[in-house]
Order: sequence, then C-alpha cells, then structure tokens
Amino acid sequence: MEHVFGGGIVSLNGEEWKILRRFFLQAFKDCGTTSSEAYHECLNATFEDLATSQGNPVDMTNIMLDRCSKIMRDTVFGHEGVTEDEIRDLNEAYGKILETLSSTKLFLFGKVAKKLFFPFLGGYNQSKIYRQKMLDVLHKNIAQHESRYDENNIRDLIDMYIKERKTRIQKRDPIAKHFTNDVLACTLLQLVGDGILSVAAYVNIFLQGLVEYPEEQEKVHDEIIDVIGPDRQTTIDDKNKLPYTNAFMYEVIRKSDFTPMLPSVECTTETTIRGYRIPKGAVTLPNYWAANHDPETYDDPDTFNPSRFLATPNKPRAELPVLFGVGKRACIGETFTTTQAFLFLTSIAQKFKLSKPSEPAGNDSVSLTPGHTYILVNSRKEGCEIDLS
Ligand code: HEM
Repeated sequence: MEHVFGGGIVSLNGEEWKILRRFFLQAFKDCGTTSSEAYHECLNATFEDLATSQGNPVDMTNIMLDRCSKIMRDTVFGHEGVTEDEIRDLNEAYGKILETLSSTKLFLFGKVAKKLFFPFLGGYNQSKIYRQKMLDVLHKNIAQHESRYDENNIRDLIDMYIKERKTRIQKRDPIAKHFTNDVLACTLLQLVGDGILSVAAYVNIFLQGLVEYPEEQEKVHDEIIDVIGPDRQTTIDDKNKLPYTNAFMYEVIRKSDFTPMLPSVECTTETTIRGYRIPKGAVTLPNYWAANHDPETYDDPDTFNPSRFLATPNKPRAELPVLFGVGKRACIGETFTTTQAFLFLTSIAQKFKLSKPSEPAGNDSVSLTPGHTYILVNSRKEGCEIDLS
C-alpha cells in the first residue's frame, strides 16, 4: 500500500496528516455538494442507456465507470480541469495498480517484506510504472492549474489547495510547508482512483444484489414507489425515508467480500487487547469480512436477510456492517461513495426490473478491476417511454 499510495494523506502521520486530512475532508465536501447537476445528468444518461438496451444484457461495469468518471471529474477538477483522455489514462493506470494488490500480498508488511519480498513479486515493477504514469498526469494538471490560477475564480479542489497554501504563506503560517505539490498529487492519485474504479465497483454490488435476490428487489421497488412515486427522481434527502432500502444496502455490504481486509494503522505504543500483545510497529489488518459474518453479532450470518437491520418494538436493529474503517483514520470518501450508491440504486430500481441474463454475456462477478457485470434490464412501465426530464 505504501509503495502505491505513499506520499498521500493515507500514508502521512502526525501534524502533517491532521492538517491535510482536515483540508481534504472539507474541500471534498464543498466540491461534492456543488455537483447535483452532474448527478442529474449521469442518472438521465444511465436511464437512456438502460431504456435502449432492448432486452440485451447491459454491461453495467462500463456504464458505471463512465458515470463515476464524470462525477469525479466534476467534483475534483471542475468542468474543464482535466481532459477525458487524462481521466481515461488515470483509470487505466489505477486498474493496473489494483491488479497487483492481491489479498495474500497484504499479509507481507514490515521492513523485511519491503526489502526482501516485494521487489521480487510479480506486479511490483508494473505498479511502480503505473503509479509514476498517474503522478505524471496529475503533476502536469497541477502545473496547469498554477499557471491559470485566479484567486477570484476558484474552480475546483486543486485551486482550493493552491489558495490554502498561498493564504498560509501570506500569513507566514509555518503549516504552509505541508501543502506541497507532491502531497497533492499523491493524494489525488488515491482520490481519483478510488473515486472512480472503487465507487463504480461498489455501486455494482447493489445492482447485483437486486439481481441475486428478486424478491428483495420487489420490496425495494415497492418502497420507492410508495414513498417517492414512479416518476420523481430520488435525491439524497430521501435516504432516511426509505428504511427497507437502507436495510437492503447494509445487508449487501455485510454479505459482500468487497475489500474483505485492508492494511491499516501501525501501532505506535505497545498495547494489549483482550489479552493479545500488540507490539509497537505492528501493522493492523482489520478483517472486515469476519466482523460482518460474526455469529455473535449476526444471527444466521450466511443468510441474506435485510430485515435484521430494521428495528422492531421487541428487537433493536443489528449492528451496522463495517467497510469504510472506524475511528480517526476512517475513509474520507464514505459519504461520496454512499451517495452515489444510493442514487443509482434507487433511481434504477424505481424505473427498471433487473434480472440475470439467461446466457451470461461475460464474467458476472463483481470485482475492482477485471470482470464485468452484465444485467438484463426491463422498463417497469411496459410499452412506455422512460421520462428523461
Ligand atoms: C467502496 C469504496 C471505498 C472503500 C471500501 C474504502 C475503504 C476505506 C477504508 C477501510 C479506509 C481506512 C483504512 C484504515 O483503517 O486505515 C479508507 C481510508 C481512506 N479512504 Fe477510502 N474507501 C473507499 C472509497 C474512497 C473514496 C471514493 C475516496 C476519496 C475520493 C477515499 C479516500 C480515502 C482516504 C483519503 C483514506 C485515508 C484516510 C486517512 O488516512 O486519514 N476512499 N478507505
């Protein structure tokens, strides 16, 4: 992880991490809230793709990659901040990098692995080359932003970063030294990579859930029709009005093996948890899959049952599944990711019925890089045009 994401906020510590995490969280939130137009455009483009599929299996992976690229482009770079070719190059390179991060390699950490194992493992050099390709594109883009910077016209996240640095320099604030172009490029590498490939794969696990569990699909659809109706486009404000849909999403997350484990924080002081000594310097590897299938937390953990996340007068709802980490190093992209998943899932389930193609047109597994999800889509309004307004 370090040799892929090194230099960005995920690998920083201490004061530098604190300041930069606060900046990126706020800036990302500010950019994200201005892009409702982009969401609207993307949802309509998706309806159009699905409505015109005419009974042929649809490659949802490609559709979602295209839509998530647009949303990320608008969120981070503004309308003209990055070209489509650059985004395509970044996507391709990040996909190649992810191919090299297989789960078993995640157990190899520490100085010995870094020096003795990694350089000789397949994919190590490939990921270094693709990381450099991404950084080249990002540095070029940052340089363009610097040359066209206008403090009265802050266009996107990169402009915000430059402004933050300039303001701190003007105030002779020593913290300005942390706002380097390297930190920005290395952080953008993760934001853009995860913001497109991971989010697209993540949205697909919910669509796949609708296909895998047709009776659940009907319950989700019925709730959306009851609460929102057949025509109004869902918005993020509808999220807390749809308890069953939320429960369905939690259950999909709980049952999925989407990032079952991720290397996480390094222990800074020797500590003991439930009798286990965790030495200083140990890297923790949270096993999200095990936590989400723990029979002490979830009755009958292998059964897909969204109702476990609905509170009843006699029973509180089950503990929510973990996927984005917990605590102060938790994911800064959770809201961004969840918003897209909710909007795509509800808008598609409202208007279309999804099913498995009788003859799979390709690999139907959901994966971060290879593998495409093919789905058969039928309009819920038989014989009617989909209203794309
Ligand atoms: C399905 C998609 C995603 C999943 C499952 C995910 C998961 C995670 C997890 C588990 C962590 C914490 C690791 C730890 O405990 O140390 C993390 C950290 C992080 N994530 Fe995500 N993430 C996703 C998408 C995103 C997106 C879209 C962005 C940004 C656009 C993002 C940015 C970050 C950053 C910057 C950190 C490091 C935070 C820090 O160290 O302070 N992630 N992510």
